[in-house]
Amino acid sequence: MSRRDVSKPLSTNPHLCKWVQKMAELTQPAAIHWVDGSLEEYEALCAQMVEAGTFIKLNEQLWPGCYYARSDASDVARVEDRTYICSLSRDSAGPTNNWVDPFEMRRKLKTLFAGSMAGRTMYVLPFSMGPIGSPMAQIGVQLTDSPYVVVNMRIMARIGLPVYREIERDSKRVVPCLHSVGVPLRPGQKDVPWPCNPEKYIVHFPESREIWSYGSGYGGNALLGKKCFALRIASNMARDEGWMAEHMLILGVENPQGEKTYIAAAFPSACGKTNFAMLVPPAAFKGWKVWTVGDDIAWLRPDANGRLRAINPEAGFFGVAPGTSVKTNPNAMAALAKNTIFTNVALTPEGGVWWEGMTETPPAECLDWQGRPWTPALARETGAKAAHPNARFTAPASQCPTIDPDWEKPEGVPISAIVFGGRRATTMPLVYQAFNWSAGVYMGATMGSEMTAAAAGTVGKVRRDPFAMLPFCGYHMGDYFRHWIKMQRSLTETPRIFHVNWFRKDADGQFLWPGFGENMRVLKWIVDRARGRALGRETPIGWQPRYEDLEWTGLDFPRETFDALQGFDRSAWRSEIIGHEELFIDLHSHLPKELVYERELLICRM
Ligand code: GTP
Ligand code: SPV
Ligand code: MN
Repeated sequence: MSRRDVSKPLSTNPHLCKWVQKMAELTQPAAIHWVDGSLEEYEALCAQMVEAGTFIKLNEQLWPGCYYARSDASDVARVEDRTYICSLSRDSAGPTNNWVDPFEMRRKLKTLFAGSMAGRTMYVLPFSMGPIGSPMAQIGVQLTDSPYVVVNMRIMARIGLPVYREIERDSKRVVPCLHSVGVPLRPGQKDVPWPCNPEKYIVHFPESREIWSYGSGYGGNALLGKKCFALRIASNMARDEGWMAEHMLILGVENPQGEKTYIAAAFPSACGKTNFAMLVPPAAFKGWKVWTVGDDIAWLRPDANGRLRAINPEAGFFGVAPGTSVKTNPNAMAALAKNTIFTNVALTPEGGVWWEGMTETPPAECLDWQGRPWTPALARETGAKAAHPNARFTAPASQCPTIDPDWEKPEGVPISAIVFGGRRATTMPLVYQAFNWSAGVYMGATMGSEMTAAAAGTVGKVRRDPFAMLPFCGYHMGDYFRHWIKMQRSLTETPRIFHVNWFRKDADGQFLWPGFGENMRVLKWIVDRARGRALGRETPIGWQPRYEDLEWTGLDFPRETFDALQGFDRSAWRSEIIGHEELFIDLHSHLPKELVYERELLICRM
């Protein structure tokens, strides 16, 4: 088969061609490669990365079609303190975002990007967030000097020829995304397996809808369709156009009668979205099924009848590997069994992968995420982890056994309930329901969670993370709250709103709740409440199930433990509300008055 000439433009769109040319003049790549998105191209790029030492091909018998990558030890997670929202005014970015004057930032970026791709290939990568042609989909083009990014994006988004066709015929705006790892090569200079620059800039221009990312090759820093586009830029589009871009999973619950109820749930990074989206009901729930639509991002829009509908803008899962096992998440394990890219997990001598929690018995030996020998004995002595805590798999969503038959429906699926959750050792009950929409918006706005390894920072510290969007909202958080309040007006029926916490601990630091599949018991109550057929008890914070309102068949869960799990601790809630107050002080000039009243009501009920 003759290989096509990859330097030949695959688009005749004059804006696109001119921009590519301009960016090539700035970044000075040695070659330009127009990505067609074919399997042949994917395989050639993977082979090229194996040759370069970026990829190791895994044992084809054990892990068909799978590749293994180790990042640089300094490039392992999103860098929130290097992430910028460069709106025209500082006030539109708000106090929760880093802001730099856009003119100053452009000057800085031009110097950083000048010649940054020298000696490398610039890939022109067109992608659609959302099924191609869906009225809810959006299009971007990423220029990148990282072939690792290209192959990951092929799994995470719809890319290539069909997207060029959309660009040719569509009047829709294309979001330009420029990405460089920031390591130009001199002629003859040998490349490293994971090029990246110690200086990183993840920059968004909300008014002109542009993304510029410099210095990192990892995850949300570099796969620009994901957090940069589908959340930070899309949240701006959504505010202007009357829809919502959210850090939410989407799942469908089917009961034994075949009735299906879709819910969307926002949990902060590494707090259980992927696990919840792929939940396997316990044996006692005969005839119940949970279907997966998405595990990280939801775009929600009211339809012509005022029903809230959601699409998953992504096509793959960029999931946390550690803790994923046949026991905790068999559906993820099936999804990642083939055609998957693993980054920063451990490599076994047979050419397989392993991570903490994947099997009860660790391999006798392996190479850790930095390529150093690792053994269980060494781990016991030094606490060394074989996989990085933010190690990830990139797997096609279509390979998930529970992928919903309607997951690519252009109009999306109807949403009956919205769930918020976080990682809270104290204070927050297992589940409660907000009294109404504005109380639910207050619930989302005041969410808190202990920090995880998904971002650089202090793991374990509780921080306010409104709607799990703190690192992802592309404009003023107070205006975002107002947008949520306003959305009610375009809905004929509002989804019911809930809060869950799988992570409450007892005095000995043990989780009170078994979690994972057992979360089905909570999910069933949520579905039944949303459909108006389950009871609960009114408490100062909202509606809570009584012990007898949950299905306990097949689980021996004592009433006293349930009471501890659901307990409302007045003094803990006092400090909780003071925490809300601190957030509100920061946002006060943009805070919708509904939220101020909601806080007053909450204090009164206490
Ligand atoms: P991002 O991809 O970073 O947005 O994360 P995510 O929200 O999809 O998190 P994920 O589902 O990957 O879960 C992260 C960690 O939480 C894993 O180590 C899981 O094992 C753990 N986890 C998930 N669900 C539960 C649960 O119900 N109980 C407990 N105790 N841990 C859970
Ligand atoms: C998250 O951190 O919420 C993720 C991983 O989903 S990343 O794509 O790196 O942002
Ligand atoms: Mn996420």
